[in-house]
Amino acid sequence: MKVSTLSTGVVLLPLVLAAPATQPIILRNLAVPRFFGAAANTSWLYHDKNYTEVISTQFSIFTPENEMKWENIEPEPDSFDFGPADEIVQFAESVGAKMRGHNFMWGNQLPTWVNSSLTATELDKALQNHITTVMDHYRGKIYAWDVINEMISDNTPNETFKDNIWTQKFGEEAMPKALTYARAVDQQPKLYINDYGIEELGSKSDTLYSVVQGFLRDGVPVDAIGFQCHFTLGQVPGTLQQNLQRFADLGLDVAVTELDINLDGPGNATAFAQQAKDYWTVVNACMQTQRCVSVSVWGVSDDHSWIPNGEPLPWDAEKQPKPAFYAIADAFEGMPER
Ligand SMILES: *[C@@H]1O[C@H](CO)[C@@H](O)[C@H](O)[C@H]1NC(C)=O
Ligand SMILES: *[C@@H]1O[C@H](CO)[C@@H](O)[C@H](O)[C@H]1NC(C)=O
Ligand SMILES: *[C@@H]1O[C@H](CO)[C@@H](O)[C@H](O)[C@H]1NC(C)=O
Ligand SMILES: *[C@@H]1O[C@H](CO)[C@@H](O)[C@H](O)[C@H]1NC(C)=O
Ligand SMILES: *[C@@H]1O[C@H](CO)[C@@H](O)[C@H](O)[C@H]1NC(C)=O
Repeated sequence: MKVSTLSTGVVLLPLVLAAPATQPIILRNLAVPRFFGAAANTSWLYHDKNYTEVISTQFSIFTPENEMKWENIEPEPDSFDFGPADEIVQFAESVGAKMRGHNFMWGNQLPTWVNSSLTATELDKALQNHITTVMDHYRGKIYAWDVINEMISDNTPNETFKDNIWTQKFGEEAMPKALTYARAVDQQPKLYINDYGIEELGSKSDTLYSVVQGFLRDGVPVDAIGFQCHFTLGQVPGTLQQNLQRFADLGLDVAVTELDINLDGPGNATAFAQQAKDYWTVVNACMQTQRCVSVSVWGVSDDHSWIPNGEPLPWDAEKQPKPAFYAIADAFEGMPER
């Protein structure tokens, strides 16, 4: 080290030591070996400069927010529009990030041609063709597929599955069909069941747990469970980590797939501090679970969230990091909550 010494004997340390240059915090680096992800949205990618800068540097895995949903990717029978989803996949490749494909079997955001006028046989063909064509198109480029999205009922334990076109036509064979078709196309990607309201120990999560136990017993292919984690401020369940662990103990990967913390009102310092604690709690639960492979947030900045006025994300509308951002960094680094 080069130091200057005055005749008085006072040692002047180089300026750099007095004011150390702070390294920028890059969450994707802190998350290793886990992935830190976001739902990416082609309405903003390349169109909003600051959004594009954050999304280019902070994440190691992406989920298309809407671009792979059935109504967008196969709007007419056997007529596929891969353009917007391709844009996200190419972007992910360009920044060295992985992709989560999203999704195949869901009751929402279906095109009008997927409706109850189809016979079970016709719907079955449509499902297999959809899964096969999309997975073939993205072969080798997708780390994980949300094969199943939101199929567990909100009226458990009285009802197991949601009442939608899939369960109306296929009954309890709906989920096994989609998972089996997906595995047959490509053995590589991790096949996920993704849902909300399954984050805490409770009836809905218990129902999913027994469904998955049955799948594993019967040889239905499933590799992982995605816990969406759309939470309201101050309501992260205390049993989240215990619940992640019991699914991991079945031999499955687990992931936080759609995290956001809804303030439900204009933010203030108290709310942002609580939001930071909530983010820390969720990321820490993943860190404490060896088989938890990723934490993804659903969006990037508060101005582009699916929740209007919820200010639910780690970056504010100006794309500046919020307290939640630093809390995520702390949790990935194994630091206690502030
Ligand atoms: C329902 O689906 C059928 C077959 O795909 C299609 O011909 C029909 O127009 C659809 N009905 C509505 C109301 O969109
Ligand atoms: C389940 O069904 C029982 C008996 O019909 C009923 O009393 C109960 O309220 C139902 N629970 C839910 C959560 O719907
Ligand atoms: C801060 O925000 C929270 C959450 O929206 C709200 O409940 C609380 O009343 C606000 N506090 C102040 C001082 O505005
Ligand atoms: C992008 O996000 C906005 C919400 O901010 C949503 O309205 C829009 O549909 C999204 N675009 C795509 C392509 O997903
Ligand atoms: C983009 O980021 C710069 C630098 O942080 C900031 O000055 C500017 O206001 C941001 N632009 C928008 C539109 O938020």
